[in-house]
Amino acid sequence: MATKDLLLSYLKEKRGAWVSGESLSNEMSVSRTAIWKHVRKLKEEGYLIKSSPKKGYLLSRDSDLLLPNEIRERLSTRVFGKMDIHYFKELDSTNMKAKNLAEGGAREGTVVIAESQTAGRGRRGREWFSSSSGNGIYATLILRPAMSPIGAPRITLMTAVAVAEALLSLVELDVKIKWPNDILIKGRKLAGILTEITTEMDAVNYILVGLGLNVNTPSESFPKEIREKATSIFIETGAQFSRTRLIRTCLEQFEKYYEMFKENEFSSIIHRWKQLSDIVGKNISVGVIGQEHMGEVVDIDDDGVLILKDDQGRIQRIISGDVTLC
Ligand code: BTN
Repeated sequence: MATKDLLLSYLKEKRGAWVSGESLSNEMSVSRTAIWKHVRKLKEEGYLIKSSPKKGYLLSRDSDLLLPNEIRERLSTRVFGKMDIHYFKELDSTNMKAKNLAEGGAREGTVVIAESQTAGRGRRGREWFSSSSGNGIYATLILRPAMSPIGAPRITLMTAVAVAEALLSLVELDVKIKWPNDILIKGRKLAGILTEITTEMDAVNYILVGLGLNVNTPSESFPKEIREKATSIFIETGAQFSRTRLIRTCLEQFEKYYEMFKENEFSSIIHRWKQLSDIVGKNISVGVIGQEHMGEVVDIDDDGVLILKDDQGRIQRIISGDVTLC
């Protein structure tokens, strides 16, 4: 194990307590100056380590930063997050950064993470609240599937299922999906997904899957305009949740469903999507570019299209919009 990683494992073992420079240098058979230099590197990476000439070093208990090494530890994926994780304290938008990386040839499985965003982007040109550093997950995955652009909306539905499953496996909350890809708890939005696709000729060049998830955000941190509509795991459970653990599980579930997707098992994904969305048979209203369509949801087809029957029995196929339950 590299000296820096070994040092980190010693500090983690004693997390929240002081460890003297002398004992570390003895345990690791390196000079105290070497210890000091590696601590400085770990601090640069983002670890919250206190130093005192008398007491030594202390790794803070409450450091739950989304550091690449922390995420990779115990991550069971083969591709996503396994190789390239680009981590930033602040970005305009992880989707924008991922776009630059993808244009520069970044490979499938690359993950971009930011502790906060200054211009987080939501669906339909909206803004995504992401300024509360340390409270949320703001991440974008780069995909390079060999497929035609027509199938891209399926990736969005697949991601919603993966994120919902990740949450259900970790917290006891009534997680629901709202078409096409909002993750809700008791009608309030916990997470959103923004899929952006770039094509070349008739094939997908790359797809960006952006995930915004409110984890430890207290209610008062949300801007007033969305306070009634948004929620977080902290608001729902009253307890802080490890963001590292959550993003790790999201990556694992994502990879699992992406594999299924590539194996043409989309019908089982959509089946699970329908179970989690509970929308089929409900009366809804959908806003599509200034127009409201009302009716009963007959189905979500295999392309993720919403099939709506209005009160005169006419069928409409809706590709994208904002749903409200009637
Ligand atoms: C929505 O409107 O529901 C989608 C929100 C998606 C937000 C995430 S946060 C990480 C990634 N970067 C962005 O700028 N947006 C997505």
